[in-house]
Order: sequence, then structure tokens, then C-alpha cells
Amino acid sequence: NTNVGTTVVPSTELTATDQDGDLLFYALSGLSPDTERVFSLAGVNFPALQLAQPLDYEKQPSMEYLLLARDTATPEERPSHTATATLTIHVVPADMRPPWFLPCAFTDGRICIHAQYRGAVPTKQVLSSPLTFEPGPVYAVDGDAAINEAITYSIIQGNTDDIFLIGKDTGNITMAKAIPEPKTFTLLVQAQQQVHTGSYSVTQVSIQAVAGQLYPPRFPQALYRGWLAPGTGANVAVRDAEDPDRELRLRAEDDDFPAGVPNSGLQYRITNSSAFRMSGETVLTNDTVGPPQVLYLEAEVFDTLTSERATTTVEVLIQDTKPSPPGPTSSAPSKTTQGSGAQTSPTSGSTPTRPTQDSLRPPSPG
Ligand SMILES: *[C@@H]1O[C@H](CO)[C@@H](O)[C@H](O)[C@H]1NC(C)=O
Ligand SMILES: *[C@@H]1O[C@H](CO)[C@@H](O)[C@H](O)[C@H]1NC(C)=O
Repeated sequence: NTNVGTTVVPSTELTATDQDGDLLFYALSGLSPDTERVFSLAGVNFPALQLAQPLDYEKQPSMEYLLLARDTATPEERPSHTATATLTIHVVPADMRPPWFLPCAFTDGRICIHAQYRGAVPTKQVLSSPLTFEPGPVYAVDGDAAINEAITYSIIQGNTDDIFLIGKDTGNITMAKAIPEPKTFTLLVQAQQQVHTGSYSVTQVSIQAVAGQLYPPRFPQALYRGWLAPGTGANVAVRDAEDPDRELRLRAEDDDFPAGVPNSGLQYRITNSSAFRMSGETVLTNDTVGPPQVLYLEAEVFDTLTSERATTTVEVLIQDTKPSPPGPTSSAPSKTTQGSGAQTSPTSGSTPTRPTQDSLRPPSPG
């Protein structure tokens, strides 16, 4: 944000002394070619350090220069004496970007298009847990990753009859009361930086209230494959073995609800392991995971609307290397069975197809 031409270090701080009282000549050289011309001196006899090119915190968070002082106009003159000093300039990130709702889609590595969220709830019920949304929980981060200010969430429009509540710090949306009739709510949700409160973003969260109660929930896959590195700590989401950049998601389908919109009335849990739990549709560790092995868990979905349940199996590969996505030609990854009980994978003959998910990804960290 600093304007080109600004004096960054005054000459008084960069002046050399000379016991003969000679007029001193200064030269600045960048220690790396791409930062060579970012700063310059105000004059050959006046070593004030000025900004000569716009700063880019992401590309050059710090720069080094060599400042040379000489008591002759040219190095050829004799006698000529020199002294040098190293300058290190640290760039302080400016608050330039508003919060981004994730997962956001980068257009050019700098501008990220916000996520909008869709969810559905049954009518005549107050769900006790936070609502689930497509493409993921309502969540925003400071667009200036280097500042990463905390975010405050609020619903600024569309919350007819104050049906919904939003967690100020989490963004989790819960229900305060039941919705009597089928209807769609379009909430405008704001994410505001806690310090630079002028930096905020608004996105849309649409929530459909649906009156069906005919269909039980079902998992579209008999087996979900996840991955974690050995020694992963507690409260970490199991990654999707087919796309390790993403969290594994178990999404049961419910024909009472529109396709592609998660039914927030579905509650998920892991039935037979205390080492894992579910948070919404993701599987989290409760504890540090052990050495390389393959674990099998049973996940259950409970439909609060119909009081029906369905189960599926989650395979968790604990291994160092990221599993490679199964390409059309590659053979299926071998399913080693290990540990007690010699479990075998319950994959059926036909490969279940994954429901298509969003093509958006969160920005890669850093
Ligand atoms: C609630 O918020 C936390 C923090 O943002 C998030 O990790 C979690 O997934 C949210 N839960 C749901 C069900 O959306
Ligand atoms: C949990 O259930 C899954 C699926 O039925 C099964 O494969 C696995 O062996 C069970 N794990 C334990 C620890 O009982």
C-alpha cells in the first residue's frame, strides 16, 4: 500500500561518517535480481531509501540490499575508501482484502469468488445440531492470509420470524424455531473482520424447508474410502482417498429433499469406534492415529424426520503416502487387511459412483 516515492528510511539513518570530512557517494545494490529496483536512493550524496516500485507482500515479504559509501565519485580515483552496510527491509502486510467465504474459486490467484451455500430442513421441527450446507459449512477467512484476522458472522437479511441463529465466531447456523410450512429462505450472511471492521463480505445462504417424510435416508456408496497420515492428531478430518486434497464427506441421500441439497435433518455418527466421530458429514479423529494400517468404521445416518437409519462402511487408510486417485486404467488399490479380526472390505462387485461435488476448492494454504 505504500506509495512509490515514499521515503522509507531517512538519510540520517543511512549516512556514513568519514573522519576526513570528504563528500561521500552512495550506491545501493539489491542482493537478488528481482528486488534490485524495488528501492532506490534519493541521490548519490543523499542516502535516503525510497520506494521505487509497488510492494507485493506475497511475492517479496523481505528484501536485502547492500549500501556502499565511497569517499570518491568513481571507484577509479586513488586513493578511494569504501564502507558497506546490509539493509534488510521487511514488508508489513496491509489489510487489502475482505474475508472470503470458503471454498472460494480463484480466478487468477488473487481474486477468489465466494461460496454460496444451500441447505434444506424439514418443516415442523427444530433441528438441534448446526445445519449442513453444500458446498460445506458457512466459513470465511481473511483474504489477507498474512494477517488472518478473526471473523464475526451475522445474518443481515432474510431471517423471517428469526427462525435461524448464526454462531458469531463459528458461522454455524442453527434453528431457533420450527418452520410451519414449506418455504425457501434466502439469508444474507456477513463475515466481518474483527479489527478492520470495514473489511467484510456478504454471501447468500439459501435454506429450503421441505415437508416430506416418506423416504428413508440411504448412503449412495456401500464403502467410503478415507486417508490419514500415521500419527495424525486429534480433531483432524479424514481426507478423501480419491482426492486427498479434500475432506471425506459422507452424504446420505433422502428423496424427500431436492437433489444436491443436504438434508440438515440427517444426523451422522460412527457407531463402533471411539477413535473417530462425525461432525456434520465429515469424519474427525478423537485421538492420535496409530501406525500404518487400514481401519474399518461403521457410519450411521439417522433421519430426524422419519426416524429411520441407514449405515455404510468407512475405510480409513493410515499410510504415509497420499493415495493416488484411481484412474480409469489403474488397478484398484490393494486392500491390505491387518490388525485384529482380519476385516475384509465389503466392496461389492459394482463400483459405486461418487455423487458429483462442487468443483470449488479452498485456496491452498500459504
Ligand atoms: C461449525 O463451525 C466450525 C468452525 O467453523 C466448523 O468446523 C464446523 O464444521 C461447523 N459445523 C457444522 C455442522 O457446520
Ligand atoms: C465397525 O463396523 C465396520 C462395518 O460394519 C466393520 O467392518 C468393522 O470391523 C467394525 N469395527 C469394529 C472395531 O468393530
